[in-house]
Amino acid sequence: MQETIEHTQATIDHLAPVNRILEKYGYSPDKLIPILQEVQAVYNYLSKDVISYVATSIGLPPSRVYGVATFYAHFSLQPKGKHIIRLCDGTACHVKKSTSILSALYAKLGLSAEKRTTDDLMFTIETVSCLGACGLAPVMVLDDEVHGQCSPDKATELIEAIIAEEKKNK
Ligand code: FES
Repeated sequence: MQETIEHTQATIDHLAPVNRILEKYGYSPDKLIPILQEVQAVYNYLSKDVISYVATSIGLPPSRVYGVATFYAHFSLQPKGKHIIRLCDGTACHVKKSTSILSALYAKLGLSAEKRTTDDLMFTIETVSCLGACGLAPVMVLDDEVHGQCSPDKATELIEAIIAEEKKNK
């Protein structure tokens, strides 16, 4: 029984940010997109549970909300890491060996083209086409910070610094 109560409390705590967002938008089905955008900003992705919760709260069928979430590339239905690494694989970056950076990051984090997020949900690696900063090639964006003329060593050092910081904050 105690376990059930704790489980329920955990669910309530987990969904508290969603409730705040739903309230902000007056539980309006017309505001579905901004609601999903803000919910995704909290959890880094949209889980099936959260999609169902949003749908029932604003009076839409979950299948409809799921359809919207899958339609827009901006939304992710897969869990993403706390730190997002975007590596450019556009032509200029590719020529300057962006793939060697990608390989180094995959090796450092135990990831691959098939597995892009670490099990501890700390890192996700994404490859993107041109980031619009070709003069700085090869370019890596780490948590929205642009790192130009990147190299496998530099990228690995940046990741190690984050890992050290996260350990300190534990
Ligand atoms: S090709 Fe990488 S920034 Fe343009």
